[in-house]
Amino acid sequence: MDGYQDLLDRSIEQARPVLARGKVADYIPELSKVDPDLLGVTVVDLNGETISSGDTNVYFTLQSIEKVFALIFALELAGADRVFELVGMEPSGAPFSELSTLGEFSAKPSNPLINAGAIVVSSLLTTLISFDEFLAQVRVLCKNPAINCNEAVFASEYAHSERNHSLAWELKRLKLLVGDLDETLRFYTRSCAISVCAEDLARFASLLAGGGLDFSSGQRVISGNAVRIAEALMFTCGLYDGSGSFAVRVGIPAKSGVGGGIMAVVNHRVGIGAFGSSLDRNGNSIGATAILEYLSNKLGWHIFSHGN
Ligand code: DON
Repeated sequence: MDGYQDLLDRSIEQARPVLARGKVADYIPELSKVDPDLLGVTVVDLNGETISSGDTNVYFTLQSIEKVFALIFALELAGADRVFELVGMEPSGAPFSELSTLGEFSAKPSNPLINAGAIVVSSLLTTLISFDEFLAQVRVLCKNPAINCNEAVFASEYAHSERNHSLAWELKRLKLLVGDLDETLRFYTRSCAISVCAEDLARFASLLAGGGLDFSSGQRVISGNAVRIAEALMFTCGLYDGSGSFAVRVGIPAKSGVGGGIMAVVNHRVGIGAFGSSLDRNGNSIGATAILEYLSNKLGWHIFSHGN
């Protein structure tokens, strides 16, 4: 990755001015305390070579990035047919916690990367694994045994999760909650509160970039089918109602979270963890998006790039 350090440093500097246009998430009180000026990016290639710039050891919560882990675990444990009996594969074109689009394309949530879909997936997972097993698998895929749940963020969000409770009750009415409602919401909210840094996200993304194969150990850690499904949904639905503009501007499968992280996958090449706590109006990190747009343009990473 010759020359990458310089490019990563520059990607951070050019992103700094846009931070003032966004703000940190405040609908979860604990998240409103985060420093809005944090910015960092890590790139990990398929062999594990790692280059970082900025605040890449600062911990933040996964929030919606957990939806990719949850989807992959559900696909591996229950199979794609079962998962897509319960959730769709279509972009919702609506905010992440939208209730009105719940059954827009069929009588189920549009996709597993919006809150309604992720609550259904969490419900399925509660029937298959414990939260501790979920956390253990996140540690394995991020190659960091120190990853933990931020209990203060969990408690803060759970105490203010009326919207997710509404979604869960509606999903129960539609007979899409296969597990207990309270247990499902605790599982989902706790997985959103798992605390990671940009380097953790980049290591996970590099496994996806390698199609689920860990090149450093030669082991397959995720099935190729689960990776393909996850990446396709990240590309079309990973940034909610900002997914279209992100696809045009950056052109890389990615998933955002209101903790400020964006995990992005340059297939066959690198995984990226970008972090900036200031968010745009869709709840996507404004700084991380600017970093990824810069790197994608400089390095020809857009999947429809023709070199100019
Ligand atoms: O359920 C929620 O509202 C949050 N725990 C996750 C939302 C989120 O990260 C949206 N992403 N940009």
